Amino acid sequence: MNLILFGPPGAGKGTQAKKIKNHYNIPHLSTGNIFRYNIKNETELGKKVKSILNDGKLVPDDTVVELVVDELQKPEYENGYILDGFPRTIPQAKALDEFLSSKNSKIDLLLNLEVPEQELIDRILSRAEGRSDDTPEKIKTRLAVYHEETAPVLNHYADQNKVEKIDGVGTVDQIFGRIKETLNKI
Ligand code: AP5
Ligand code: MG
Repeated sequence: MNLILFGPPGAGKGTQAKKIKNHYNIPHLSTGNIFRYNIKNETELGKKVKSILNDGKLVPDDTVVELVVDELQKPEYENGYILDGFPRTIPQAKALDEFLSSKNSKIDLLLNLEVPEQELIDRILSRAEGRSDDTPEKIKTRLAVYHEETAPVLNHYADQNKVEKIDGVGTVDQIFGRIKETLNKI
């Protein structure tokens, strides 16, 4: 099962990816987590992307695509995976599709977590992980970037009939229940 967990900042991608990972025993690939890990460990990649994440802008497509393509070739992804935070632009989606088709593989489904904007903001502001992009001003930028550059990815996969909407409001377990119902159908 090759999944994309999709949604705006604060939609619960990371939270639900963890639940899917544990329940279905497939790895979770979060580009945001990989970038934050590299920033924390002051790697070359970390130095390159630090100010971009801090500003709530997007890392250049070629950097992200290279990272994901390298990662997906590792054996642990052979039996499926959950992509969280990728693809985030149309060029990223096209690059992913091309890479997967060259490996005779494909995305099976995109789960779109739908959450009203005020709830997104409230959730992010009450997160206590010390993320430098969790401030009111940066959240505004992240949401604007989402609407401009990321939301079009939905149409890209809707054209392939791969989009399933998930009501992202409720308790974490209620939402996971909806995800399981959807995944158990495929
Ligand atoms: P990324 O790490 O992907 O962040 P994001 O998309 O902004 O999303 P978040 O991680 O903030 O939210 P989430 O949907 O994971 O929600 P969560 O489960 O944490 O990206 C960060 C940055 O990295 C980007 O801005 C960009 O710079 C760069 N980047 C990453 N990928 C990239 C790419 N492909 N291309 C270019 N740049 C890229 O939940 C949010 C909060 O709500 C948590 O505190 C959680 O506990 C709480 N919560 C969750 N579910 C519920 C619920 N049901 N009820 C109440 N609270 C809840
Ligand atoms: Mg996240």
